[in-house]
Amino acid sequence: MSTKEELHRLREWLVRHNYLYHVLDDPEVSDTEYDARFRELEALEAAHPEWITPDSPTQRVGASPLTAFAKVVHRVPMLSIRVEKDEGELHRRVLDGLGLPMDTEVAYAAEPKIDGVAIALLYEHGRLVRVATRGDGREGEEVTQQASTIATLPRKLHGSGHPELLEVRGEVFMTLAAFATLRARASEQDEKPPKNPRNAAAGSLRQLDPRVTAQRSLEFHCHGIGEISAGAWPQRHDTMMERLREWGLPVCPDAEVVTGADGYLAYFQNMEKKRDGLSYEIDGVVIKVNDLAWRERLGFVSNAPRWAAALKFPPREAETVVEGIDVQVGRTGALTPVARLLAVEVGGVTVTNATLYNFEELSRKDVRVGDRVRVRRAGDVIPEVAESLPEHRDPTSLPFPVPVVCPACGSPVARVEGETILRCGNGFACPAQRKEAILHFASRRAMNIDGLGEKLVDVLLNEGLIGDVADLYRLQDAPERIAGLARMGEKSAENLLAAIEASRERDLSRFLFALGIREVGEATAASLARHFGAIATIMTATEEELQGAPDVGPVAARRVLEFFLEPRNAELLNRLLAEPTTGWHRTGRPTRQDHPLLSGATVVLTGTLATLTRQEAKARLEALGAKVSGSVSSRTRYLIAGASPGSKYTQAQALGVEILDEEQLKSLLA
Ligand code: IVH
Repeated sequence: MSTKEELHRLREWLVRHNYLYHVLDDPEVSDTEYDARFRELEALEAAHPEWITPDSPTQRVGASPLTAFAKVVHRVPMLSIRVEKDEGELHRRVLDGLGLPMDTEVAYAAEPKIDGVAIALLYEHGRLVRVATRGDGREGEEVTQQASTIATLPRKLHGSGHPELLEVRGEVFMTLAAFATLRARASEQDEKPPKNPRNAAAGSLRQLDPRVTAQRSLEFHCHGIGEISAGAWPQRHDTMMERLREWGLPVCPDAEVVTGADGYLAYFQNMEKKRDGLSYEIDGVVIKVNDLAWRERLGFVSNAPRWAAALKFPPREAETVVEGIDVQVGRTGALTPVARLLAVEVGGVTVTNATLYNFEELSRKDVRVGDRVRVRRAGDVIPEVAESLPEHRDPTSLPFPVPVVCPACGSPVARVEGETILRCGNGFACPAQRKEAILHFASRRAMNIDGLGEKLVDVLLNEGLIGDVADLYRLQDAPERIAGLARMGEKSAENLLAAIEASRERDLSRFLFALGIREVGEATAASLARHFGAIATIMTATEEELQGAPDVGPVAARRVLEFFLEPRNAELLNRLLAEPTTGWHRTGRPTRQDHPLLSGATVVLTGTLATLTRQEAKARLEALGAKVSGSVSSRTRYLIAGASPGSKYTQAQALGVEILDEEQLKSLLA
């Protein structure tokens, strides 16, 4: 197969598996395999930049910044929907409008009302040519580059039979998990955190620099069509959505077709129950007449169609009283004020605590002990104090004082230059940070030490059985001391020790994530693990080398470097790495042997290798102790040149660097 054919095959493969994963929710290959193929494509394209096309799966990183958004006029206006309180109203209006008897069965398409941003996607001959926001419904803004970074949004429709012109409409939104991550990052980086997932989605889409949009995990679900070429009109909403799904567009999996007012009321109640379990925020349901010819006949009143209605869930807000304000110290030393509340029901859940995020937010909202406040919760997101209601305030109350010392260890707190966050800089010496570090290490997505929860960590720390995470692996030496702890039987002690033992098998990426290095989330940890293969290589990498790992930016690279340079961390790592494990030290690659020529040598790759992907070549070189770098310098020992090498080849020649071809590389590796 020619390289070009391989490139096409890879692209098709990636588009298909991306669709299976995101749209059908039915992946056929592992994430690791997907990532590996993705890197292969990246490598091929790096070697042949002339073959890169805008619809390549690699090109979702975001184009260069715009100076302003262009205006787009919606030829078919993007209407809003009437919010209805009397839930039978839509059905009566529909029957009335169609002149049908009251017992006629009407099919309704029922969908969650996603709290996001409406956009319109214009496809011409199956190619995405323009994306626009709703704006005021008549005129929106062009966000083609920004929306193109959304992974699930096809830039080329799958299959065939696409209308010449097709405008798909839908909602861009942010999952609760992505929202929580973004909020955490914003407060870490001292930016104003977005208020809710809707604002976060809108703000991410309306970024002049599409590269910023690319870093926000946005999702998209379609909910209808706008313009469509003559003759291509579908008959029903559900079949139309099915068609869109076949063409690769993500459709809401919770949509249903129901009959009559009873049908959609049952759907409404059912979705209200499901609401908390969804990964994204919805604020109600949208009910639409399923038959599109009937929609035509029903038409519009003012700005809203007669054939649709939104039914909204009751708000998840309530009023209560602040009984106290606690200051919690997080894993990174950040001080977070938390309001202790008089217990109150908010949307079916009893709330007793609500976050105030940071002291700047606290003083902006001026929440005081004793205040009456409005509390809000959204899905899985922790409840927050939306605002204080000072009209009820005791006139003698005072603003909450900003702490000057850490409430856990008493050391002075500092506001890091350019950050709003107050931090205790005492690190592991602060008992609160130590505890949070251990909890993070043990958490499900990190080392997954089952049963090691907050209470147990407290006891282990208080009893002096552990001081840090490395001590966990020494607990097996004293099983009787564990069994003797309060509320611990022999059986639970055994289970805990077994869970700790099992965590020795966790792989390098989880281990890195578990260390709790700032800016190193799961994705960054996975990228570092994949790129470097061994913890030793990461610990000794330079800032520049760290940035060589995909998606590792300068900030994360700096944090990693600082983490390993810190003597207390270095000492901790020493003890952890002395532990016998099967997982942490490296990704499942052969152990490094000292290679007489490669050990310690810096090697650079260019061009395409016929028998190895660049990733494989890199991994094998690294396993033998070589450092694989992205650029040629006088310190480069070898340049490995595959087919169609790039400018590195001439640079290497100019510097007198030894150049090896694929055959020579293979004998070197053998
Ligand atoms: S249909 C004419 N379906 O809610 C009907 N809208 O004012 C067009 N929304 O602007 C909209 N989920 O942004 C429809 N499943 C859904 C929706 C939905 C959310 C938004 C949309 C619209 C607003 C209603």
